[in-house]
Order: sequence, then C-alpha cells, then structure tokens
Amino acid sequence: MSPSARGGGPGPAASHERLLILDYGSQYTQLIARRARELGVYAEIRPGTDDGSGIRDFAPRAVILSGGPASVLEPGAPTVPEAVWTAGVPVLGICYGMQAMAQALGGTLEDSWPHEYGAAELELEKAPSRLFDRLESRGASPLQVWMSHGVRVTGLPPGFRVLAGNRTTPIAAMADEKRGLYGLQFHPEVRHTPDGMRLLASFLHEIAGFRGDWRIEDFEAEVIHELGERLPDGRVLLALSGGVDSAVTAALLARAVPGRVVAVVVDTGLLREGELAGIREAFHSMPIDLRIVDASRRFLAALEGVSDPEEKRHIIGRLFIEIFAEEARALADIRALAQGTIYPDVIESAGGLGPAQVIKSHHNVGGLPEFLPFEIVEPLRWLFKDEVRALGLRLGLPPALVSRQPFPGPGLAVRILGPVTAVGVELLRRADHLFLEELTRSGWLGRTSQAFAVLLPVRSVAVKGDGRAYEPVVALRAVVTDDFMTAHWAELPHELLARISLRLTNEVPGLSRIVYDITGKPPATIEWE
Ligand code: XMP
Repeated sequence: MSPSARGGGPGPAASHERLLILDYGSQYTQLIARRARELGVYAEIRPGTDDGSGIRDFAPRAVILSGGPASVLEPGAPTVPEAVWTAGVPVLGICYGMQAMAQALGGTLEDSWPHEYGAAELELEKAPSRLFDRLESRGASPLQVWMSHGVRVTGLPPGFRVLAGNRTTPIAAMADEKRGLYGLQFHPEVRHTPDGMRLLASFLHEIAGFRGDWRIEDFEAEVIHELGERLPDGRVLLALSGGVDSAVTAALLARAVPGRVVAVVVDTGLLREGELAGIREAFHSMPIDLRIVDASRRFLAALEGVSDPEEKRHIIGRLFIEIFAEEARALADIRALAQGTIYPDVIESAGGLGPAQVIKSHHNVGGLPEFLPFEIVEPLRWLFKDEVRALGLRLGLPPALVSRQPFPGPGLAVRILGPVTAVGVELLRRADHLFLEELTRSGWLGRTSQAFAVLLPVRSVAVKGDGRAYEPVVALRAVVTDDFMTAHWAELPHELLARISLRLTNEVPGLSRIVYDITGKPPATIEWE
C-alpha cells in the first residue's frame, strides 16, 4: 500500500526534510523512526525490498537501513535497492543494514563464532570521524553498545575504514566518509546504547545536514489547514472509542471544521468504569455533536453463551460496525468518515519484512470504509503514539485521557473468561476500578504500561462472615513494556498488593479470591484471551 493511499492526503512529507528508513524486519525499526522524529527529523519507513521508488518519490535527504533477522549469507536474503547507492545521499546501515551495505559494496562477511548478543564495549579508532566526534566518551572510555548479530563484516568494502571494534567484532563500525556511507554493527536506537541518540544526531544533523524542521506544533497547524481545505461540505463522522487515537482525531476535527463533526460512541456495555463520563467531560466544551448510543443489551444478547475469545471478537466487531452504520445512515448530511489510524497501524498493515504474525485478530473499525459511501480521512496516519499524545495535549484534551493505557476494542468481554454475563461485567468493572484506583493513589499506575483485572471462570471457597461462599476468582495483571510485543509483569510492592487484595475482597461482592499474574510475554500474552 502506498503510504498516501486511502484518503490520507499527501502527508507532511512535502513540507519537511525527509529521512527514509528501509525496513529489513528488525523489531527496532519503528524505534529508529521515533528517535529520528525526537530529533526533529521527519522519517518514514518503507519495506527494505522497495524497488527504488521510495527513493525517487520520497526524495530523502538520507537513508537508514534497519536491522533484520535474515543472514546476508543465506540465499534469498533481502538486498538493498541499487538506487540507495546512486542517490548520492548519506546512508547509515544498522546491524543487518551494515552487513547488506558491506555485501553490496564489495566487503566480505562471515558467520563466525562466537555470536554477539546484548551489551558490549567498543574501542573507538583514534582518527577522527564525523559520526563519533561529538560523543563525550570519545577517547576516554570504551563505548557501551547493544549488539545483536551472528554474521560479521570481516573485510571492508573499498574506500571504507574501521571506526570502532572489539576483539570479537573488530569491524563494529565502518565508514566511507567521502561518500557519506556509515555502518554500525550495533543498535544506536535502543536505550542500552547510552550514546545512541548522540550518534543518530551526528548522522542526521552533522552528516546529512537535517535542520530539524519536524515539530508537532507545525504539524498541528498544517493538518488543521489541510483538513479545512480538503473536507467536503457537510459533516464528518467518526467513531469515538474512548481511546487516545480517536479522541485526538475528534479534537483535531473540532478545531479544523468546528460544528461539522459528529462523534458516535457505541456503548457496548463492556467499557471500563467512568469511561463514558470521561468522554463527555473531555468533549463537552468542544464544538462536536457527541452521540452516545446505548447498545449494551444488544452486545450482551449477541455474546450470550459464547466462550471462544476469537468468536467474541468477531461478534463484537461485526455488531459494532452494524450499529455504527445504522447511526451513519440516519444522519443525512455526512460526507466524510474520519478514523484514528496512526502510523504504526499503517506500517503494520503495509506488511514490511517484520515478523508480523497475527496472534489475535485485533478489533478496530477497519471494516467501515467498504460499508459506507464516504470519503475517508485519517489525519493521524503519519504520527507515532507519543506524537499523537503531544498533539492531544496541545488540543486541550485532559492529560488523564491522553496518557491513558491501552484498552482492547472488545473491552471487558475478553477479560471475562468464558461466557460474558451482566453480573460478570459488573463484578469485573468494579474490581478493575478499585485496582486502578489503588495503583493511581500509590503512584504505580504511571510505572506500569497496562494494568487491569480479569474475571476467571472458576470458583473457589471463601469464608465470609460466618458463612461459606463459593465464588469466582479475580486475577490482576500489570505489565511493563516498551512496545507491547514483549512485556514483564510489574513488580508491585507486597504491601500495595495486600491493600488491593483487602479492598477487593471487602468492597466487591461476589468474589472469593484475588491472584496476581506473574507471567511475562512471551510466553503469555498481555490479555488473558
Ligand atoms: P496481547 O494480549 O496480544 O496484547 O499481548 C497486546 C496489546 O494489544 C491489546 N489488545 C487488543 N487491542 N483489540 C484491541 O484493540 C483487541 O482485540 C486486542 N487484544 C489485545 C492489549 O490490550 C495490549 O495492549
């Protein structure tokens, strides 16, 4: 899919200096783009096997080749498009990207032991280099880096010299500075390479000459202007989920076309405590026609007796679209449909070389476009999550909403194991609310990436007052993660867990026991279903 397809408009590329990141499937590729943007450089990611059109159409000022799981020594490994070498712009190859660079330009490589994964130290060469010269540690101490590779460069391509290395990997950084070509065997984009940001800054600002013209406030002004120009007369409709992306989309539209925005909230009955009130509160002073459709009975009825998680997701996704479409048809003057698609959604649905594998079918409003004859606008499709949050704050959304933890589209239904019942939803909503309240009070909410309660389909014995009870078990889950692809369980203090347990058992009728989930991802997923 071309990044400007599906009504996204020309995007901000035309008005900013551009960095092209070619993706060879590393789990860190998006991180490279985010780091670049933190440095004020507008970056887009294209598949590493791009036929060269990425270079021609996008006209980047520099190119970064990402890491990746393949071995350049294996037949069929992805190679770098020729246009990268002929474009005459600086190129930085990272890990696989460096190996592919070495291979393409006449170096030699070997799959030799030991392989090097994790923290490593490098000695920098004495001769100055534009890439390393700005590091404070230059010359004083070894450079701390994060390595992850099997194959290594053993012979430099003509014109290159070594910039840094160690005993295991003598060529860990190389350059042909005349041509602006740089290779790093380690990952500058991860925090475990403490000087990584400075290295990227040197490459982008010093070597490639980016001025740093990407700022969210400029984007805000540009996109508001563009929406005002582009949106057809009549009103624009969007589905507001309570999540950050759709909320920021709504706030942006309210600014761009005030009085012409209809936001429909489908109350599935599976939302968290206080969610609807939060939405009302956030939008009450914005020029938006906010419509809350109570469909909780329909959802409960459709889910009756259904235990299979995927079936739950499909039922909810279908019904959501059905209800939203009913609402849309009842509104006469809708001309456009807005969606809160953000850049990671675009990259993932374009299917780069990444190890993308569908483990759960994530419910989004993605089925809508074919359904409804409206123009689609996706004003956030160029932004990463942290940029969306920054924009949301600028647009006046409450910080609590903007910094809110992710919540799955199918809501509490996938946190009630087994069939969903009205009683189960009530119990879980209450338990979840108390858990989050205690995390907030203790300051721990912000130290977790996602925290929630899960209602289990098992009962256990409890003694309450003088009587014996036989009631359901609630599991608590709190995880810490950067990207939600892997996660650690949060090491909440015991006295906090004790307080939470006491409150839940005292204040939530109908539950017998509280357990805390101490499983990482992998092997477990973050949600229980
Ligand atoms: P898992 O459970 O796959 O979750 O480790 C990773 C992240 O995705 C969220 N998630 C969902 N989001 N619809 C969504 O919109 C879904 O069906 C869904 N399932 C999981 C999950 O909350 C976590 O943030």
